[in-house]
Amino acid sequence: MQRILRFPKGFLWGTASSSYQCEGGNTNNQWYRWEQQGRILSGEQCADAANWWREAERDFELAEQMENNTLRLSLEWSRIEPAEGQWDGAAVDRYRAMLHDLRKRHMKPVITLHHFTEPLWFADRGGFANEENVRFFVRYVTYIVTALRDLCDFWLTFNEPNVYATQGYELGVFPPGEKNMGHTLQVLRTLLLAHITSFYAIRRLQPEAQIGYCLHYRLFDPANPLSPLDRGVANTQENLFNWAALHAAESGRFPFPLNSLMAPLANAAGTRDFHGVNYYTRNLVRFDPTIPFEAFGRRLVRTNVIRNDAGLDEDFGEIYPDGLYRVLKAVHQRTRGNKPLYITENGFSDTRDTRRPRAILEHLAMVHRAIQSGIPVRGYMHWSLVDNFEWNNGWHVRFGLIEINPQTQERFPRRSASMFGEICRANAITEDIVERYAPEAFEAIFGKTQTVSLTV
Ligand code: BGC
Repeated sequence: MQRILRFPKGFLWGTASSSYQCEGGNTNNQWYRWEQQGRILSGEQCADAANWWREAERDFELAEQMENNTLRLSLEWSRIEPAEGQWDGAAVDRYRAMLHDLRKRHMKPVITLHHFTEPLWFADRGGFANEENVRFFVRYVTYIVTALRDLCDFWLTFNEPNVYATQGYELGVFPPGEKNMGHTLQVLRTLLLAHITSFYAIRRLQPEAQIGYCLHYRLFDPANPLSPLDRGVANTQENLFNWAALHAAESGRFPFPLNSLMAPLANAAGTRDFHGVNYYTRNLVRFDPTIPFEAFGRRLVRTNVIRNDAGLDEDFGEIYPDGLYRVLKAVHQRTRGNKPLYITENGFSDTRDTRRPRAILEHLAMVHRAIQSGIPVRGYMHWSLVDNFEWNNGWHVRFGLIEINPQTQERFPRRSASMFGEICRANAITEDIVERYAPEAFEAIFGKTQTVSLTV
């Protein structure tokens, strides 16, 4: 008997992407200025990116061939409102054309309203470091949801408020490049306030819409589990990075001790219809008194493990499938199971695609395990459909199911793309798929025993 991990009927299968990373030609946002200032580590520029502003449809066709039934993309606020209070109808029309195309190909559009980029005029007013500016974001949301609500009913207000705040204001590697813990927390709070206000605005405009946001969840385990100091700093990092944002968004209150610094947020409860989970990796953490900015914890990658491409260990080191199950379980428990979950990002930087097929299979097996244990996971969006411009790491990091040559814009589907297509088509992982793409994952996926048909 063929063993099979079957996913629930109606499960959403697709990929995730963002405007700056894929569209190309975005010269009116704060990331473009960051590039011009030479802040991309490789010195590269985003330029045409994956050329989606002109030709997204040709990649949508590749997603259709994989029988994806959803695609997550973001809107570029700096195109829609290039100057304060001025709206660009042609940009809206272009997005309408993309959404029509997705729907024609039977893919449900999932739209992110803010994926790290914002117009220069907004950044120059202090961006989300200034609470006064929330009204500009909500005005943009109101405008664009009104313009697109006939084509989309699934919205993410923000991509990863915790990454935006940490990278831009604590570690200084994203614009505006600050290293200021106080601002980091303030920005996080303002993003959550903007989410809450936008949630109610969208709800009024489109009562049937699914509205949420996604956080980046990363696991932090003690380098030495026997060391109380390592355990303490790992715990602190995990609480600060993952759970403070989730807790504040759920309840309006920052957990202790942050609640002594951060005022509560009104009307937060219930301001999401689902939890968006972005998961990539875990870190081990060792106590280090020399790095107060990182809460005295030095992040390390476990040795002798399967890893993402070399050179980016701080960001993407270990490929750790169990972590996805741990994260899903923790989010479900911490929110008392109040909403369905979607994996809005999960991916691997693997230029040669030697580890990605196995990694996808093992992560999906964890999703299946979560569903079997009663966690309502409703969809999986892989990061990403095509290689794209990886923020401050430029083109050196390749997350696509489909490889791109950015100079010629040629596409080369990786083996992972054909495997992902087979899984989406079957709505399942079968023995046959595992045997052909990553036989070494067989035991992790089906266990040692024979003949159980694992269905949900
Ligand atoms: C971001 C993506 C990014 C991916 C890989 C996520 O944190 O949402 O924009 O490309 O990680 O780094």
